[in-house]
Amino acid sequence: MQVALKIWRYDSSTGERALRDYEIDAPEEATLLDCLDIVKDRHDGSLAYRKSCRMMICGSCGMRVDGAAVLACKTRMYDIAQEGRIPVISAMGNLPVVKDLVVDMEPFWDKFKAIKPYLQPGYERPEDGKEYRIEQQRMNVIHKESLCINCGCCVSECNAMESDPEFLGPQALAKGMRFVGDPRDAATVERLEEYSGQHGIWECTRCFFCNERCPKGVDPRDAIAKLGAEAISHGIDRDMGAKHAKWFIRSTETTGWLRETELVPKTQGVVSSIKQMKFAFSLARHSKAGLEFPPHIAKDVKEARDLRKIVKAQDRQGALGHVQGEHALSKLAHGYEEGGDPYGPGSFARPYLPGEKEEGEA
Ligand code: SF4
Ligand code: SF4
Ligand code: FES
Repeated sequence: MQVALKIWRYDSSTGERALRDYEIDAPEEATLLDCLDIVKDRHDGSLAYRKSCRMMICGSCGMRVDGAAVLACKTRMYDIAQEGRIPVISAMGNLPVVKDLVVDMEPFWDKFKAIKPYLQPGYERPEDGKEYRIEQQRMNVIHKESLCINCGCCVSECNAMESDPEFLGPQALAKGMRFVGDPRDAATVERLEEYSGQHGIWECTRCFFCNERCPKGVDPRDAIAKLGAEAISHGIDRDMGAKHAKWFIRSTETTGWLRETELVPKTQGVVSSIKQMKFAFSLARHSKAGLEFPPHIAKDVKEARDLRKIVKAQDRQGALGHVQGEHALSKLAHGYEEGGDPYGPGSFARPYLPGEKEEGEA
């Protein structure tokens, strides 16, 4: 097949930057990485990019296609070529570009190291000398986080990192959750304290781009939500973000809906609220904030209260509650049937061959 590509070339030593066109002949099964190999072997040996495993394991080949981060070795080119589209290939975002598609991963590894990505053991070894066994329910909490291959695709797309390069970021925090949720680790409280500080979990803007771009299904935003829930359940709630989340829980429990108007007094205190009165009245004038008193109570508020009671009775506080929610959502998404595939039918998509439509496509 004929594949056309546009590639942003850059040389940090000269500052030269140019968008170059390439047209190559590639086999139908070619991935983007295969196409880059063809460009380098047969057209332009000066093209720089990273690769190693070619099978979505090493995390070396992160780059952007049309502005969205992907693994080059996971990106099939057949459909793109058939559509006649010419994708623009560029280096990942939020990391300094060294040359062409190669970024400097040093800031990425600095954050990775900062969260102490190793087990700090604090468990009792079984007396019989056998291995320490962890319940499946506990492993479910960190299953997705353990799949991370450190490719940086999530970091590339993180909005919070764009505005604050010091933000720990989705990859480091997902890795942090992998250890917070590990029952063998003895540093849970210390970790939660550290991750809850400045540039930590509460700085995430919840844009969900990291979930969308992660090629391994780690869902870093979900990991950050789990960290937030764990921090609150351990009483680490000094940050405004934690207070905000707590007020929303309280608010749904008491009235059945989110009382955003009361958010400022409840989270920032009376003095700060008085300072912001002018702003609040201006919002109310433009119907952007309800100031009604007493607050409206939802008709079916009992359902929200019952839900909260169930969560408490099952003791699914912190990250465990999130995992339960994930399973429930995946069952809904995949049409779960009692006694069927434990993850719900269709949870593993059938691979499709060049020219075939994906399942569900018209
Ligand atoms: S959800 Fe949070 S961590 Fe993920 S990309 Fe958005 S701001 Fe970054
Ligand atoms: S969380 Fe996903 S996107 Fe981010 S580094 Fe790990 S594997 Fe890559
Ligand atoms: S080359 Fe290893 S993940 Fe793509």
